[in-house]
Amino acid sequence: MKTKTKIFTAAISLSVAFFSAQNGNVKKHFLDLDGTSTNIKIQPTMYGIFFEDINFAADGGIYAELIKNRSFELDEPLTGWKQQNTKTLSPNLDSGFLTIITDKSKTNKNYARITVWNDKNYVLENEGFRGIGFHQGEKYDFSFNLENISGNISTINTSLIDENGTVISSVSTIIKGGGWQKYNAVFTPSKTVEKAKVQITFTGKGIVNMDMISLFPQDTWKDRKGGLRKDLVQKLYDLQPGFLRFPGGCIVEGRTLAERYQWKKTIGKVEDRENLINKWNNGFSHRLTPDYWQSFGLGFFEYFQLAEDLGAEPLPILSCEMACQFNTAELVKMEDLDPYVQDALDLIEFANGDSSTKWGKIRAEMGHPKPFNMKYIGVGNEQWGEDYIERYKIFEKAIHSKYPDIKIISGSGPSPDGEFFEYGWKELKKLNAQIVDEHYYNSPEWFTKNAGRYDEYDRSGPKVFAGEYAAQSVGVVKPDNKNNWQTALSEAAFMTGLERNADVVTMTSYAPLLAHADGWQWTPDLIWFNNLHSYATPNYYVQKLFSNNKGTDLIKISENGNAVKGQNELFASAVKDGKKNEVIIKIVNTDSHEKSIEINPKNIKLGSKLTKTTLTASQLSDENNFQTENIKPLEENSVIKKGKLSVQIPANSFVVLKIK
Ligand code: AHR
Repeated sequence: MKTKTKIFTAAISLSVAFFSAQNGNVKKHFLDLDGTSTNIKIQPTMYGIFFEDINFAADGGIYAELIKNRSFELDEPLTGWKQQNTKTLSPNLDSGFLTIITDKSKTNKNYARITVWNDKNYVLENEGFRGIGFHQGEKYDFSFNLENISGNISTINTSLIDENGTVISSVSTIIKGGGWQKYNAVFTPSKTVEKAKVQITFTGKGIVNMDMISLFPQDTWKDRKGGLRKDLVQKLYDLQPGFLRFPGGCIVEGRTLAERYQWKKTIGKVEDRENLINKWNNGFSHRLTPDYWQSFGLGFFEYFQLAEDLGAEPLPILSCEMACQFNTAELVKMEDLDPYVQDALDLIEFANGDSSTKWGKIRAEMGHPKPFNMKYIGVGNEQWGEDYIERYKIFEKAIHSKYPDIKIISGSGPSPDGEFFEYGWKELKKLNAQIVDEHYYNSPEWFTKNAGRYDEYDRSGPKVFAGEYAAQSVGVVKPDNKNNWQTALSEAAFMTGLERNADVVTMTSYAPLLAHADGWQWTPDLIWFNNLHSYATPNYYVQKLFSNNKGTDLIKISENGNAVKGQNELFASAVKDGKKNEVIIKIVNTDSHEKSIEINPKNIKLGSKLTKTTLTASQLSDENNFQTENIKPLEENSVIKKGKLSVQIPANSFVVLKIK
């Protein structure tokens, strides 16, 4: 955040406003800020994050493994791998070859059997996730499991190769003895490369088995071995999210029931986690991603740990045995639901049980003896219709009988209105559901028009979780959608409406969260990354400004007695922060003209120190990118005269005012 300090007085601001008004550019608005308590608390969960393994968010993204298909488990077991002649760089099976051995009794079923006839010519290569990113001088942990079968292979030689074929680091590992053994080495690349690859050659002739060929930066989040990408987690941390929803999204449901997310298969030793095709592998014909699988290196234990690191409430969403209704819509019969309901109960025990319980013990053995203190669970993702309501009832009864304090999130389908939405809400209300998840992917105009969406919601009904939303610059699931300033500004306008209705809306999250510049399926997304770097979109900064300034108590801000929700293209909300003793006012101006605002405080004494943070861009079509983040908050500190406060709100801008 850029910061500059200037001193000005209310009088000077007023005169500027008057001068500009004379020029006909600036319209003046008088807002009343009422410090009287509304008795509405801003929940700590108000602004959270939605994590789904879409767009290479997990494998190839935040999970820092650099080798794709490290244990040869994909349906096409050589995905990501190439066997080549070292000289011609074409397939040469005369020098050696690789076969896949499958042991169906194991969860990590496959390993590679490598036969080397001519060690001068045979090379095995991994391409990583759209290449491998290396930072010059940093250290990378390389490891593999190897069983020496026959012959005289004495050394495994591994090199990192840049885009021009130049070696940027290499290591040789001496092979000792028989039986499966784990070998380790460390690379230090001599150059920063975005799309490198790894090549393995052999000294000697013979047969070896290899599995779990793995490469991780040492510099991960919290320096955990085999951990998460630091720059990406840092961006999540900076949002100060109130909750972390995981693992999705439609990935929870799966394209088929067999491909649904099963949390029990994602815990325990990383090398024993059974790989599964990613729902987004073939989700869209315009973005087929046949190499997109889930290694589950980022599994449920790691999600809980991430939530803890971020200071966020963990919010797992579980399949309720309905496969994605946009795909196969497979269902488990009602009479067969028990084992699946048990999965939900076991998950609560895994998160919260002490180490004398079956699942709590497993968590403790994984390195977290203390419970994760999970308070929320989601039943189904984006389900709709009677089938959902029937299943929800069974899950709800079982969960609340055993764990009455756990809050359950239920779903209202994929749209913010329409038959499925109305039906879902009607039934969930009858069932006294606690928190209902709503999803809206819509145009920027929809977002600005809907800033009053929750004003008329029933205050005695379930709370709302705005669980997935994002303004679409072109249309839903259109590959040309952009994270431009227009979308971000419309979301900011809408979010003032979420905040004004904090008695009903208690949780919100933008979706999707992460996208790899070469591996994405869905746009827009909050944070973009490649193999080396990441950047925050304007939408990210909108989320950050709301979340970092959420305050503790809602107060009223109005114009002529009315909520400021789009009249004259102005939107506003205000909170007090009881802990920091601050008043925070958020104002969005979607007009193409600057506006002059005079804020008249009532029943509240404002101090003299003002921090004004402005987020704006010169064009609505402006975006951030890997080279520059032109659209980012600009902070100014100033001294104001006690009493009225006058500020200029630039055209098409989002401004946060903070006063002690
Ligand atoms: O955020 C992308 C997808 O949109 C989610 O997986 C799904 O819940 C919604 O349809």
